[in-house]
Amino acid sequence: MNILFVCLGNICRSPMAEYIAKNIIKENNIKNVYIKSCGLHNYHEGEDMHKQTRKILEKNNIKIDQFNSKKINNDLYDWSDYILVMDDSNVNQLLNMFNENNKIQKITDYSYKLNYQNVPDPWYTNNFELVFNILNDAIYNFFKLKGVI
Ligand code: 4NP
Repeated sequence: MNILFVCLGNICRSPMAEYIAKNIIKENNIKNVYIKSCGLHNYHEGEDMHKQTRKILEKNNIKIDQFNSKKINNDLYDWSDYILVMDDSNVNQLLNMFNENNKIQKITDYSYKLNYQNVPDPWYTNNFELVFNILNDAIYNFFKLKGVI
């Protein structure tokens, strides 16, 4: 199963989701589930994730290797079985780019503890903790629902 997390800039939300998911996979010794992330824009192409994203992951004992922000492309789109995005704007932009929505879902559809329809962009809100809590809950629920854990 190939999962692609997508946000706008690929420095705050989708990298956080990528490493939360990779950590769950590793902790549960899951094979055959692969995780990537990317952005819809190339504003930060090649840059590391946001300092606050790195900080909150480390605070939660999640290991991070070398990260380079990247923009979505056809290969990433085709590689994915599931494309999990952060907000309605991400959905609309992907639909404009790829004209097909079979595998696009908002990650908030799996967030039961916290009632958010979109993952608020911490680039603007600065609330990285809230993003972590939403993503952590939703990703666990997604994996459980898909029978991965
Ligand atoms: P992200 O946050 O989509 O969660 O990575 C953003 C990062 C950068 C920008 C916007 C959102 N930006 O406008 O540069």
